[in-house]
Amino acid sequence: MTIYDASPYLAGNYAPVTEEATAFDLKVTGSIPSELQGRYLRNGPNPKASPDMEQHHWFLGQGMIHGVRIMDGEAKWYRNRYVSDEQGFAPNTNVIGHAGRTFAVVEAGGKPVELSDELESIGVADLGGLPSGFSAHPKIDPLTGELHVLCYHWPDQIDKVHYVVVGPDATVTKAVPIHTPTMPMIHDMGLTQTYAAVFDLPVAVNIELAMAGNPFPLSWHEDYNARIGLLARTATSGDEVIWCEIDPCFAYHPMNSYDTDDGKVVIDICEYDRMFDNDRNGPFRDSLPRFARWTVDPATHSVKRETLDDSVQEFPRVSDAVANLPYRYGYTSGGVTEGVDWFGTTIKHDLSTGAKEVREHGERREPGEPVFVGRENAKTEDDGWVMMYVFDPSRNGSDLVILDATDITGDEVARIELPQRVPNGFHGNWISD
Ligand SMILES: [Fe+2]
Repeated sequence: MTIYDASPYLAGNYAPVTEEATAFDLKVTGSIPSELQGRYLRNGPNPKASPDMEQHHWFLGQGMIHGVRIMDGEAKWYRNRYVSDEQGFAPNTNVIGHAGRTFAVVEAGGKPVELSDELESIGVADLGGLPSGFSAHPKIDPLTGELHVLCYHWPDQIDKVHYVVVGPDATVTKAVPIHTPTMPMIHDMGLTQTYAAVFDLPVAVNIELAMAGNPFPLSWHEDYNARIGLLARTATSGDEVIWCEIDPCFAYHPMNSYDTDDGKVVIDICEYDRMFDNDRNGPFRDSLPRFARWTVDPATHSVKRETLDDSVQEFPRVSDAVANLPYRYGYTSGGVTEGVDWFGTTIKHDLSTGAKEVREHGERREPGEPVFVGRENAKTEDDGWVMMYVFDPSRNGSDLVILDATDITGDEVARIELPQRVPNGFHGNWISD
């Protein structure tokens, strides 16, 4: 038995890799579009051995960035590098480009770690005055160039979260504390042209677990007052938040959010019935995620929930061009099954018709988060590509796959073979030159 047998979240393609590799001029099948000039980066936990492996939680472990440099129709390099920092967080959840800089990011207290173009950690970035930690899911506003962020901080701030705005120059311009009765796990947020939406849902700090030294002291709270808060983007005090009741459920990731003409907020989201109740080591045991719509009405302080697609799916993404606006297309990874199996398909939703297309990636090939990359001067919302790492167990390796977003079930546009596998991880982005 190795340490990697101690937890299902260390087995198979959840197992970390041990080398920081660098490879040049990667093998490409198909043809990389010449318009793609930049880097595809993705973050995920890559834990090192520790005595706590039996308690290992998938969300823990030092971050590792896997990146591919694309230029002039060629895959110039692949690199994977640990995120390292002096604050001890080594953000493991997402990697973003902002203000021409690259940041690895995480929730619950860690500040962003700035990375070089070649993925070496430069240092912790305070962005001119973060009041607490940061988040793995800052929301870009394509109209203002700002990032909007909901942050919480364990263990220093267990009675508040912060709504933070970061300007186009990567400097904090606003930080509003919002009081909470305990510390909810707020992984992501909704953002519209009018509101920031706060997900105060029944996964929260569990003091018993914390006292016992559990490295992931969060659990389901049965009698929690589940609610969605709408805070006007112009608000100067957290007291202005409008709380709207929702049935107990949980969600990590909205696909997109927007205002309606009659003053409501639509949040399309991957939702779970329960989370970290019986199984506290990963997200896919207590219940499985489906695609839903929450319509939040600040006039009646209520939330209407509808299922849009009850098939299993996660990692929802949209075009950045329609972020926080009414939109038509969204993309998810589909088909996770019981246990710690991974995703098997990429789904494209047409929200205007309710139709969906489902791409199979080939026998046992397992895709990660689908990242939409719009073509410059795009003619339609889906004019562009969808990119993701795909694990191929038959060669114990991974590929970067590029699909035509207008034809996701068609032939791959390009498949870039990587020199090693990319472990099941979380989020990333295309960072254009
Ligand atoms: Fe996430």
